Amino acid sequence: MLDSTPQKTVTIKLDGKDISVPEGATIWEAAQAQGTLIPHLCHKPEPGYRSDGNCRACMVEIEGERVLAASCIRPVQVGMVVNTASERAEKSRALVVELLAADQPDQPHDASSHFLDMAALNGVSESRFPARDACHVPLLDDSHVAMSVNLDACIHCNLCVRACREVQVNDVIGMAGRGLDAQIVFDMNDPMGQSTCVACGECVQACPTGALMPASVLDDAQHGDSKDFDREVQSVCPYCGVGCQLSFKIKDDEIKYVEGVNGPANENRLCVKGGSVLTMFITITA
Ligand code: FES
Repeated sequence: MLDSTPQKTVTIKLDGKDISVPEGATIWEAAQAQGTLIPHLCHKPEPGYRSDGNCRACMVEIEGERVLAASCIRPVQVGMVVNTASERAEKSRALVVELLAADQPDQPHDASSHFLDMAALNGVSESRFPARDACHVPLLDDSHVAMSVNLDACIHCNLCVRACREVQVNDVIGMAGRGLDAQIVFDMNDPMGQSTCVACGECVQACPTGALMPASVLDDAQHGDSKDFDREVQSVCPYCGVGCQLSFKIKDDEIKYVEGVNGPANENRLCVKGGSVLTMFITITA
Protein backbone atom coordinates (compact mmCIF):
# COMPACT_ATOMS: atom_id res chain seq x y z
CA MET A 1 0.00 0.00 0.00
CA LEU A 2 1.32 3.42 -0.94
CA ASP A 3 2.26 5.74 1.91
CA SER A 4 -0.02 8.78 1.51
CA THR A 5 1.47 10.70 4.49
CA PRO A 6 2.31 14.19 3.22
CA GLN A 7 6.05 14.83 3.22
CA LYS A 8 7.18 17.41 5.77
CA THR A 9 9.02 20.40 4.41
CA VAL A 10 11.21 23.08 5.93
CA THR A 11 11.70 26.61 4.66
CA ILE A 12 15.17 27.99 4.16
CA LYS A 13 16.62 31.02 2.43
CA LEU A 14 18.89 30.01 -0.41
CA ASP A 15 20.81 32.75 -2.20
CA GLY A 16 18.30 35.31 -1.03
CA LYS A 17 15.20 33.33 -1.99
CA ASP A 18 12.78 31.57 0.40
CA ILE A 19 12.28 27.96 -0.65
CA SER A 20 10.52 24.91 0.77
CA VAL A 21 12.60 21.78 0.90
CA PRO A 22 11.68 18.22 1.96
CA GLU A 23 12.81 17.58 5.53
CA GLY A 24 16.09 15.67 5.57
CA ALA A 25 17.25 16.94 2.18
CA THR A 26 20.76 18.30 1.95
CA ILE A 27 21.69 21.84 0.98
CA TRP A 28 23.17 20.44 -2.24
CA GLU A 29 19.87 18.76 -3.13
CA ALA A 30 17.90 21.90 -2.25
CA ALA A 31 20.14 23.98 -4.51
CA GLN A 32 19.94 21.48 -7.34
CA ALA A 33 16.13 21.52 -7.15
CA GLN A 34 16.35 25.29 -7.70
CA GLY A 35 18.61 24.84 -10.73
CA THR A 36 21.84 25.75 -8.92
CA LEU A 37 24.68 23.31 -9.48
CA ILE A 38 27.11 23.45 -6.58
CA PRO A 39 30.46 21.98 -7.67
CA HIS A 40 30.97 18.48 -6.28
CA LEU A 41 33.55 15.71 -6.56
CA CYS A 42 33.07 13.02 -3.90
CA HIS A 43 29.28 13.33 -4.08
CA LYS A 44 27.43 11.35 -6.74
CA PRO A 45 23.71 12.15 -6.98
CA GLU A 46 22.72 8.69 -8.15
CA PRO A 47 20.73 5.90 -6.47
CA GLY A 48 22.63 4.04 -3.75
CA TYR A 49 25.45 6.55 -3.25
CA ARG A 50 25.86 7.81 0.31
CA SER A 51 27.25 11.31 0.64
CA ASP A 52 30.66 11.19 2.27
CA GLY A 53 31.60 14.85 2.58
CA ASN A 54 35.32 14.18 2.24
CA CYS A 55 36.55 16.37 -0.61
CA ARG A 56 35.15 19.76 0.47
CA ALA A 57 34.58 20.83 -3.13
CA CYS A 58 30.96 21.78 -2.38
CA MET A 59 31.41 24.27 0.47
CA VAL A 60 28.76 26.93 1.08
CA GLU A 61 28.34 29.71 3.61
CA ILE A 62 25.61 29.51 6.24
CA GLU A 63 24.69 32.71 8.03
CA GLY A 64 25.73 32.68 11.69
CA GLU A 65 28.18 29.79 11.33
CA ARG A 66 31.89 30.32 11.80
CA VAL A 67 33.05 27.77 9.22
CA LEU A 68 31.86 26.83 5.75
CA ALA A 69 29.72 23.69 5.42
CA ALA A 70 29.91 20.80 2.97
CA SER A 71 26.58 21.15 1.18
CA CYS A 72 26.44 17.54 -0.02
CA ILE A 73 26.19 16.17 3.51
CA ARG A 74 24.61 19.00 5.50
CA PRO A 75 20.84 18.63 5.98
CA VAL A 76 18.66 21.72 5.74
CA GLN A 77 17.29 23.18 8.97
CA VAL A 78 14.35 25.47 9.57
CA GLY A 79 15.29 29.10 9.01
CA MET A 80 18.74 28.34 7.63
CA VAL A 81 20.18 31.14 5.48
CA VAL A 82 22.55 29.71 2.87
CA ASN A 83 24.74 31.54 0.41
CA THR A 84 26.20 29.30 -2.28
CA ALA A 85 27.92 32.10 -4.18
CA SER A 86 29.63 34.22 -1.53
CA GLU A 87 33.21 35.18 -2.28
CA ARG A 88 34.43 33.09 0.64
CA ALA A 89 32.60 29.95 -0.52
CA GLU A 90 33.68 30.34 -4.14
CA LYS A 91 37.32 30.91 -3.17
CA SER A 92 37.29 27.88 -0.88
CA ARG A 93 35.82 25.60 -3.56
CA ALA A 94 38.27 26.83 -6.20
CA LEU A 95 41.20 26.30 -3.84
CA VAL A 96 40.21 22.67 -3.22
CA VAL A 97 40.09 21.99 -6.95
CA GLU A 98 43.37 23.80 -7.51
CA LEU A 99 45.12 21.73 -4.84
CA LEU A 100 43.80 18.52 -6.39
CA ALA A 101 44.70 19.70 -9.90
CA ALA A 102 48.37 20.03 -8.85
CA ASP A 103 48.68 16.24 -8.72
CA GLN A 104 46.79 15.46 -11.91
CA PRO A 105 48.76 14.12 -14.90
CA ASP A 106 49.81 16.70 -17.52
CA GLN A 107 47.41 15.17 -20.01
CA PRO A 108 44.18 13.87 -18.50
CA HIS A 109 43.32 10.22 -19.08
CA ASP A 110 39.73 11.26 -19.76
CA ALA A 111 39.46 14.49 -21.73
CA SER A 112 35.82 14.81 -20.64
CA SER A 113 36.06 13.90 -16.98
CA HIS A 114 33.74 15.19 -14.28
CA PHE A 115 36.80 16.62 -12.54
CA LEU A 116 37.61 18.82 -15.55
CA ASP A 117 33.97 19.96 -15.69
CA MET A 118 34.10 20.93 -12.02
CA ALA A 119 37.45 22.69 -12.44
CA ALA A 120 35.92 24.75 -15.25
CA LEU A 121 32.87 25.50 -13.11
CA ASN A 122 35.24 26.88 -10.47
CA GLY A 123 37.22 28.85 -13.07
CA VAL A 124 40.34 26.73 -12.43
CA SER A 125 42.45 25.89 -15.47
CA GLU A 126 45.85 25.40 -13.81
CA SER A 127 47.37 25.06 -10.36
CA ARG A 128 49.82 27.32 -8.53
CA PHE A 129 50.93 24.40 -6.35
CA PRO A 130 53.80 21.98 -6.98
CA ALA A 131 53.00 18.44 -8.04
CA ARG A 132 53.91 15.55 -5.75
CA ASP A 133 57.28 13.88 -6.21
CA ALA A 134 57.47 11.28 -8.97
CA CYS A 135 58.29 8.55 -6.42
CA HIS A 136 54.79 8.93 -4.96
CA VAL A 137 52.94 8.76 -8.30
CA PRO A 138 51.24 5.36 -8.72
CA LEU A 139 52.03 3.37 -11.85
CA LEU A 140 49.63 2.10 -14.49
CA ASP A 141 47.74 -1.10 -13.68
CA ASP A 142 46.55 -2.56 -16.98
CA SER A 143 46.16 -6.10 -15.67
CA HIS A 144 42.41 -6.16 -16.35
CA VAL A 145 41.18 -6.76 -19.86
CA ALA A 146 38.13 -4.48 -19.54
CA MET A 147 39.30 -1.67 -17.24
CA SER A 148 42.42 0.47 -16.90
CA VAL A 149 43.65 1.76 -13.55
CA ASN A 150 45.62 5.03 -13.68
CA LEU A 151 45.85 6.09 -10.05
CA ASP A 152 48.04 9.07 -10.94
CA ALA A 153 44.67 10.76 -11.58
CA CYS A 154 43.03 9.52 -8.35
CA ILE A 155 41.84 12.24 -5.95
CA HIS A 156 40.91 9.83 -3.13
CA CYS A 157 37.28 10.88 -3.29
CA ASN A 158 36.34 7.39 -2.18
CA LEU A 159 33.54 7.03 -4.76
CA CYS A 160 34.96 3.78 -6.16
CA VAL A 161 35.17 2.35 -2.64
CA ARG A 162 31.51 3.19 -2.01
CA ALA A 163 30.58 1.94 -5.49
CA CYS A 164 32.22 -1.41 -4.80
CA ARG A 165 31.41 -1.79 -1.11
CA GLU A 166 28.03 -0.13 -0.67
CA VAL A 167 26.38 0.03 -4.08
CA GLN A 168 27.41 -3.35 -5.49
CA VAL A 169 28.34 -4.93 -2.13
CA ASN A 170 31.46 -6.58 -3.53
CA ASP A 171 33.99 -4.98 -1.15
CA VAL A 172 37.04 -5.47 -3.33
CA ILE A 173 38.26 -1.85 -3.31
CA GLY A 174 39.65 -0.12 -0.23
CA MET A 175 42.08 2.57 0.82
CA ALA A 176 45.57 1.65 2.07
CA GLY A 177 48.66 3.54 3.17
CA ARG A 178 49.06 6.85 4.90
CA GLY A 179 49.82 10.41 3.84
CA LEU A 180 51.45 10.67 0.42
CA ASP A 181 51.39 6.89 0.08
CA ALA A 182 47.64 6.56 0.63
CA GLN A 183 46.00 4.96 -2.37
CA ILE A 184 43.13 2.88 -3.66
CA VAL A 185 43.88 -0.85 -3.56
CA PHE A 186 42.17 -3.98 -4.82
CA ASP A 187 42.03 -6.70 -2.14
CA MET A 188 45.51 -6.87 -0.55
CA ASN A 189 47.03 -4.45 -3.08
CA ASP A 190 46.68 -6.96 -5.89
CA PRO A 191 46.67 -5.95 -9.56
CA MET A 192 43.04 -5.38 -10.48
CA GLY A 193 43.06 -8.24 -13.00
CA GLN A 194 44.24 -10.69 -10.33
CA SER A 195 41.96 -9.47 -7.55
CA THR A 196 38.50 -10.76 -6.64
CA CYS A 197 36.99 -7.95 -8.73
CA VAL A 198 33.85 -9.26 -10.43
CA ALA A 199 34.20 -6.71 -13.25
CA CYS A 200 30.79 -5.08 -12.84
CA GLY A 201 32.26 -1.73 -13.91
CA GLU A 202 30.50 0.27 -11.17
CA CYS A 203 33.78 1.86 -10.01
CA VAL A 204 34.47 3.00 -13.57
CA GLN A 205 31.04 4.60 -13.75
CA ALA A 206 31.66 6.32 -10.40
CA CYS A 207 35.21 7.63 -10.93
CA PRO A 208 35.19 11.40 -11.51
CA THR A 209 38.74 11.77 -12.89
CA GLY A 210 39.45 8.97 -15.37
CA ALA A 211 41.63 7.06 -12.89
CA LEU A 212 39.35 4.10 -13.60
CA MET A 213 38.19 3.83 -17.18
CA PRO A 214 36.95 1.28 -19.73
CA ALA A 215 40.08 0.01 -21.50
CA SER A 216 38.26 0.29 -24.82
CA VAL A 217 38.17 4.11 -24.47
CA LEU A 218 41.92 4.57 -23.96
CA ASP A 219 44.77 4.53 -26.46
CA ASP A 220 48.16 2.92 -25.80
CA ALA A 221 49.32 6.04 -23.93
CA GLN A 222 46.25 5.78 -21.63
CA HIS A 223 44.47 8.81 -23.04
CA GLY A 224 40.90 8.93 -24.27
CA ASP A 225 37.64 10.80 -24.19
CA SER A 226 34.58 9.26 -22.60
CA LYS A 227 32.30 11.77 -24.36
CA ASP A 228 33.78 11.15 -27.79
CA PHE A 229 30.95 9.17 -29.34
CA ASP A 230 28.50 9.93 -32.15
CA ARG A 231 25.37 8.57 -30.55
CA GLU A 232 23.97 6.68 -27.61
CA VAL A 233 21.59 3.75 -27.95
CA GLN A 234 19.66 2.69 -24.88
CA SER A 235 18.86 -0.99 -24.72
CA VAL A 236 18.36 -3.93 -22.39
CA CYS A 237 21.25 -6.21 -21.52
CA PRO A 238 20.90 -9.36 -23.64
CA TYR A 239 22.54 -11.77 -21.18
CA CYS A 240 19.70 -12.72 -18.82
CA GLY A 241 16.10 -11.96 -17.95
CA VAL A 242 16.61 -9.36 -15.20
CA GLY A 243 16.15 -6.51 -17.66
CA CYS A 244 19.03 -4.23 -16.74
CA GLN A 245 19.00 -1.14 -18.90
CA LEU A 246 22.19 0.06 -20.48
CA SER A 247 23.50 2.56 -22.93
CA PHE A 248 25.80 1.76 -25.84
CA LYS A 249 28.15 4.60 -26.75
CA ILE A 250 28.72 4.39 -30.49
CA LYS A 251 31.52 5.94 -32.51
CA ASP A 252 31.93 5.42 -36.27
CA ASP A 253 29.18 2.79 -36.17
CA GLU A 254 31.08 0.70 -33.62
CA ILE A 255 30.28 0.25 -29.93
CA LYS A 256 32.93 2.09 -27.92
CA TYR A 257 31.79 1.20 -24.41
CA VAL A 258 28.74 0.34 -22.32
CA GLU A 259 27.23 2.06 -19.28
CA GLY A 260 24.33 1.17 -17.02
CA VAL A 261 21.35 3.53 -17.01
CA ASN A 262 18.66 4.10 -14.42
CA GLY A 263 16.18 1.33 -15.18
CA PRO A 264 13.78 -0.06 -12.55
CA ALA A 265 15.68 -3.37 -12.35
CA ASN A 266 19.19 -2.01 -12.06
CA GLU A 267 19.31 1.69 -11.07
CA ASN A 268 22.43 2.25 -13.23
CA ARG A 269 24.15 -0.92 -12.03
CA LEU A 270 25.37 -3.76 -14.19
CA CYS A 271 26.90 -7.15 -13.44
CA VAL A 272 30.01 -8.62 -15.02
CA LYS A 273 28.07 -9.57 -18.13
CA GLY A 274 26.57 -6.20 -18.91
CA GLY A 275 29.37 -4.14 -17.41
CA SER A 276 32.43 -5.91 -18.68
CA VAL A 277 31.78 -8.90 -20.90
CA LEU A 278 30.14 -6.64 -23.47
CA THR A 279 33.04 -4.17 -23.21
CA MET A 280 35.63 -6.99 -23.27
CA PHE A 281 33.96 -8.41 -26.34
CA ILE A 282 34.23 -5.02 -27.97
CA THR A 283 37.89 -4.64 -26.92
CA ILE A 284 38.87 -8.09 -28.16
CA THR A 285 37.01 -7.87 -31.46
CA ALA A 286 38.01 -4.25 -32.22
FE1 FES B 1 30.70 17.59 -0.89
FE2 FES B 1 32.88 16.26 -1.65
S1 FES B 1 31.24 16.92 -2.88
S2 FES B 1 32.44 17.13 0.29
